[in-house]
Amino acid sequence: MSVRWHTYPDAAAAAEACAHQITALLDEALSGNEFASWAISGGSSPKIMFQMLAKTEFPWDRVHFFWVDERCVPPTDSESNYKMAAEAFLTPAHIPQRHIHRVMGELAPQAAAQRYGEEIRDFFGLDSGEFPHFDVIHRGMGPDAHTASLFPGDPLIDDHENIVGATFVPKFNQWRVTLLPEALLAAKHTVFLVAGADKKDAVRAVFQEEYDPKKYPAQIGTHGGRSVTWFLDQSAAELVE
Ligand code: 6PG
Repeated sequence: MSVRWHTYPDAAAAAEACAHQITALLDEALSGNEFASWAISGGSSPKIMFQMLAKTEFPWDRVHFFWVDERCVPPTDSESNYKMAAEAFLTPAHIPQRHIHRVMGELAPQAAAQRYGEEIRDFFGLDSGEFPHFDVIHRGMGPDAHTASLFPGDPLIDDHENIVGATFVPKFNQWRVTLLPEALLAAKHTVFLVAGADKKDAVRAVFQEEYDPKKYPAQIGTHGGRSVTWFLDQSAAELVE
């Protein structure tokens, strides 16, 4: 097992360390390229990190932003991952609109997924069957060990053909668009930001149970020696420390 994780006293400290790692990885990517690519997650945990990054001196105008997943709602909706990131980070950091590759959650789910897949293929210049190598993917995890919008038992977890998929999440009565396993696995670097005691059992299972991504989707990419680093607060790491 080669999971790499770091534990911090609280969610803010974990977010700060994760933010630092992300800028270091993007800086590395920019040392050899004009632009870097970063796919961000939603949910509540990243908001504080985004607010920190908005105040961070960095050549943000050389970074292209994508989403790991999105709720199928308009960009003005309080559930929108785009809205949260735009308010906390993209707008205050004056990110050029042409560098923001959001999922059009206002479209029908399948249409939004198709359009987002095309946007990614165009940006990376992919041929069919190829997957994007994001410089950085930032992921979160729910108490049920879901990541992106890949929830336990979802048939999309077995989709190794496509980059993006649309899925209905009964527990939230909501359609979602999400990157699929091969796109997550193809990332050059992945960072997880996970905080809160409600996630400690899932953290233990993802780190210590047999590889079973259908049961623990956050295991995707976590095992197997890739560049994957978890930033945890003490309460989330309680069972693995
Ligand atoms: C989303 C996310 C999702 C998130 C987890 C954790 O759209 O909800 O991208 O995968 O990372 O649900 O969410 P919290 O940070 O809110 O616990």
